[in-house]
Formats: sequence, structure tokens, C-alpha cells
Amino acid sequence: MTDAFKIGIAGLGTVGTGVIKILTQNADIIAARAGRPIEIKAVSARSNNKDRGVDLSGFDWVDDAGDLAGRDDLDCVVELIGGSEGLAADLVRESLKGKKHVVTANKALVAHHGFELAKLAEGNGVSLNYEAAVAGGIPAIKAMREGLAANKFTAVYGILNGTCNYILTEMRETGRDFGDVLKDAQAAGYAEADPTFDVEGIDAAHKLCILSSIAFGVKPDFDALTVNGISHIDATDIAFATELGYRIKLLGVAQEIDGKILQVVEPCVVPIGSPLGSIEDVYNGVYIEGNFVETPLLTGRGAGEGPTASSVVADIIDLARGISLPTFGIPAEQLKELKPLDAGECDGSYYLRLNVLDKSGVLAEVSAILRDHNISVESMMQRGRDPEQPVPIVLTTHETRHADMIRAVEIIGALDFCVEKPCLMVIRDL
Ligand SMILES: NC(=O)c1ccc[n+]([C@@H]2O[C@H](COP(=O)([O-])OP(=O)(O)OC[C@H]3O[C@@H](n4cnc5c(N)ncnc54)[C@H](OP(=O)(O)O)[C@@H]3O)[C@@H](O)[C@H]2O)c1
Repeated sequence: MTDAFKIGIAGLGTVGTGVIKILTQNADIIAARAGRPIEIKAVSARSNNKDRGVDLSGFDWVDDAGDLAGRDDLDCVVELIGGSEGLAADLVRESLKGKKHVVTANKALVAHHGFELAKLAEGNGVSLNYEAAVAGGIPAIKAMREGLAANKFTAVYGILNGTCNYILTEMRETGRDFGDVLKDAQAAGYAEADPTFDVEGIDAAHKLCILSSIAFGVKPDFDALTVNGISHIDATDIAFATELGYRIKLLGVAQEIDGKILQVVEPCVVPIGSPLGSIEDVYNGVYIEGNFVETPLLTGRGAGEGPTASSVVADIIDLARGISLPTFGIPAEQLKELKPLDAGECDGSYYLRLNVLDKSGVLAEVSAILRDHNISVESMMQRGRDPEQPVPIVLTTHETRHADMIRAVEIIGALDFCVEKPCLMVIRDL
């Protein structure tokens, strides 16, 4: 067998310790597949005296993770610290400049600095691998860069955040509100103490930005994304959606239409039993449209120690085998600037819930505003008959122009009988 492939690991938290466990427990099978053993030479984290549940005694301890970049006994630096700036970013840049391969699970870093890092990697003849950055244990990057490389992609859709999918599933199953379920998710370890990145859609947006770059051969452009999270989703909407035959999912949508690219993360309404409507709990799904393969769906655990570390180690095995691919599937210099498509230019069907005072003439006024904006209603439900209490009106529309829908909802939302901000979601047949 040839020489060992030598790695240094920066970050020994959930993912870092998972990587050590896999490389230790599956050492033989991994060596056979890689054609050579994989040897951990050095490790680094913030604290040197934490019990991490793994034996670190055989590895060099490095106090400053940044020093891994300068070690000449490493083939690859594995960055598992996180964050788009600071130590993680510096370590990745310096490692690539020092002609070391880099494996990372850091979606924020790749989404914000992917183009610069891809140029650095390719210019220095090394690879930047980041399978674990998107959908944890699901090999979505490998599928798009390799298995589906024969296709022109027209769209990628994803349930890309397990925390949100868990919260939405739990809200539906128990009828409880967002805040209540979030607290439980935090206690169960499914949500961070600061859940903002997850519940406001930012984590999913980082992942969508990366998928979009590979799908359409464009520079990752995080600022071109429209992002809305799930914190405003009401248990009422989940119940109405279920009654209408739908699930509410936080979807990442990247579509190329006439040379422009729509990138949006938002709660959407999808049919129960559809490919993405069936993905529940903490599971993630990536649904790809290719012009010859049609619509493969990849699903599995999108986070957690084992699944995420599994993807990190797969990246390391590829490098040990000598497999090196352009970061985003084509050489960095050929990546185009992304021309963003405004959602207002798109057509779609919609779910709209209004909370209105139960007065005569309300339905007629809502109908007239919709008609004046060329919006055709497919179904309408009104619940409750109490002149003292606001009542919900839920309607779904036929295909209509997004900009018309937004304008109509703005007008309706400003009327005095409308007692709270209307809830509007795109219905996607996915
Ligand atoms: N957890 C998941 O399920 C998951 C899934 C997909 C992707 N990811 C990505 O994987 C990466 C790591 O996530 P994680 O969940 O493993 O995070 P984590 O459990 O918080 O671990 C982070 C590690 O980085 C170390 N660290 C932090 N600041 C440092 C510093 N200044 N110098 C040296 N080490 C420092 C910490 O050291 P101490 O332990 O000493 O504090 C810790 O070992 C992130 O980019 C994350 O987005 C995670």
C-alpha cells in the first residue's frame, strides 16, 4: 500500500469528533477504498482539556489552529470550526495557498467566499471539498458534480434545514405554536441556543447558494438570494394547509429561466405525498431537475455527528484516491456572474390567509381587489361566525403573476377589516 494520506483537523466539536470516530472505527475499509491509509497527524480546538469522548493521545495537539496551514507533514487540512470570517476563513485560505487540500463542512464560508477560494484552490493545484456543507449526510454535491454531470440543470429544490422541517412537522402533529415547539427543539438538541440562522432561513440559504452555483455554473452570490424563514408561520396555517391537502415546508428554490436565476428560500405549500411533501421531521431532501435524468430526489439526514462526518470522510477518501474536481464543477475562471431573476417576474399559484372582521361586504371587497389584479381564485374557505371576533378566510389561486399577487395582498392588508398581516405562500407542485 502507498504512503498514508496525512490530515490535520481543526475543530473537535460535533463534526470533528465524528470524523475521528469514523476514521478510527472504519480504518480498514476506508484504507481499502482510498488505496492508502488515512492518518490523522494533528488536531486543534479551542480548549485542550475537554473530554471529547475520543482518544486524542496519538495526534499532535496544536494550540493555534492557524498553524496547521504551515505544517509540511500534512496533505490536507480539515476545517470544522465554522463561521464565514475569522479563524476558519484564514485557515482555509492559508492552507490552499500552502498547496494543501482542504475539506470543510462550512456552508457559510463557501457561500460567502466560494469563488475566491475556488480560484485559490485551482491556482495552487489543490482541491476544496465541501460535501458536508450541504444537506449533511446526503451526497448532493457529489451527485451534481459527478453522477449527474451529463445534464443541463434547470432547477434545484431543497428542504435544506432539518431544524425547520422538524419544527413544522411537530407543529402539524401537535397543533402547537412555533415558539412552543422551538423551545422543545432546543431542549432536544435539534435547535441551537441562538436559532436565528436556522429559523430565519439563513442556513438553508447558504446551502442553496452553493447548489445554485454548481447547477448553473455561476459564482456563488449570497446577496442575490431572497430569504424568509418560518418564525411567522402560524399553527392555523398548518391546519388549513393540511385540510386543503398540503404541507408547509421551508424550501430552497433555484431555477434558471431565460438566462436569469431565481434563488429564494421561503415557506411554501406543497401537496401531501409529493416528493418534498413527504419529507418530514429532521430529514432533508434535494430534488434536482436535469434535462436527461429528469427529477432525482436525494433524501436523508441533513445534520448530526454521524451523517455530517460521513460526508467529510468521503471527501477525504476522494482526495486520498487522487480525485480532484473543480470546486463548483467547472473551472473557477469559467463561472459566470449570476443574473438574478426577481420573484415578481415569475408566475405561480398561491395560498392566502386573511384574518378579517366578520362584517358584510368583506368577501365582496376582497374578491373585487383580486379580480382587479387578474387573480383567479381556485378555492375559498371561511371559518367561524362571530361578529365580535376576527375570522380567517383562506383562499388558493390559479396561476397568477407574483407581482400582481403582492400588490393585491398589500391593498387587502391595508383595509380596516383586515386585523393582521395576511399570510401568503407560493404553492409548489414538488
Ligand atoms: N453539527 C452539524 O450537524 C453540522 C452539519 C453540517 C455542517 N456543519 C458545519 O460543521 C462545522 C462545525 O460544526 P460543529 O457542529 O461541529 O460545531 P461545534 O460543535 O460548535 O464545534 C466547533 C469546534 O471548533 C472549535 N473552535 C471554535 N473556535 C475556535 C478557535 N478560535 N480556535 C480553535 N478552535 C475553535 C471548538 O473548540 P472547543 O471544542 O474547544 O470549544 C469546537 O471544537 C460548522 O461549519 C458547521 O456549520 C455542522
